Amino acid sequence: MTTTRLPALRMLAAAAAAALVLAGCGGGGGEGGGDAAGAPAGGEPLTLGFSQVGAESGWRTANTKSVQDSAAAAGIELQFSDAQQKQENQIKAIRSFIQQRVDVIAFSPVVESGWDTVLMEAKRANIPVILTDRSVDSADTSLYATFLGSDFIEEGRKAGQWLLEQTAGATEPVNIVELQGTTGSAPAIDRQEGFAEVIAQNPNLTVIASQTGDFTRSGGRQVMEAFLKSHPDIDVLYAHNDDMGLGAIEAIEAAGKVPGQDIQIITVDAVKDGMQALADGKINYIVECNPLLGPQLMDLVQKVAAGEEVPARVVTEETTFDTEAAKAALPSRQY
Ligand code: AHR
Repeated sequence: MTTTRLPALRMLAAAAAAALVLAGCGGGGGEGGGDAAGAPAGGEPLTLGFSQVGAESGWRTANTKSVQDSAAAAGIELQFSDAQQKQENQIKAIRSFIQQRVDVIAFSPVVESGWDTVLMEAKRANIPVILTDRSVDSADTSLYATFLGSDFIEEGRKAGQWLLEQTAGATEPVNIVELQGTTGSAPAIDRQEGFAEVIAQNPNLTVIASQTGDFTRSGGRQVMEAFLKSHPDIDVLYAHNDDMGLGAIEAIEAAGKVPGQDIQIITVDAVKDGMQALADGKINYIVECNPLLGPQLMDLVQKVAAGEEVPARVVTEETTFDTEAAKAALPSRQY
């Protein structure tokens, strides 16, 4: 019942507001569109329901700020929900957005699988869904309007490519340990896949242990402590994000080893703390994953709400950093 009445009320309100504008002012406003970037002509602002993964990393904090700041700048009313890394919380939040009849739903799925039912509910309610940062593995791609975010497989490939180049011509075995992101999440699955694909070109490169640190600093420290106990011969650490890499550095130092020298470290993200560790020589290479998705997201929100065509996939542009590049980038780094 709510689903049919509210749009009708909105149309009435919009018509009334439009009539007021026509009757009351002869000039002054801009042509055509609404009174704020996110407002339809003469109507209420667009409402966006956004379900965030949590606050597990520096990347996530920067991403949340980008979404919140960009919504405010675009005049879009944001309903923000923090899922605390739990899929059940995200499903609850999406159902609540459907009940509230938001104009658009966006979310960053904590894991890839298990979304079809709730996405179908949004589709039946005629509320467009935008995937942001992470994807889902639903076979039915009509369940969402677009996916904005990084190419995580490519990020894994870039990490592997750097190691391949550093170890070119090496005849000795190179023992790698891997700190995976959240189990079942798109970045953990894809960064592992891209890295494995590239290092397979050199049979001397072997991943001797691989375990999740859940994208957190404490997870990275704990798992690295265990790796160091069971594998005294680690040459390289590949961490799926900076935070886990930074936690691992604490464990490496506590074990009396020198991070960046005794153990080469590759991470993903390029948040300020990670870049500082790279500039200090404690990390050797970082593959960037850009969290500043807010402006592009708000642009897509406005377009899908207006019924405009949007690309099915929008890939974020990213780079890589070595120590010198980190030193150059740090003074102007935003996050
Ligand atoms: O989905 C993006 C990943 O999630 C980031 O690389 C990681 O830091 C975050 O927790």
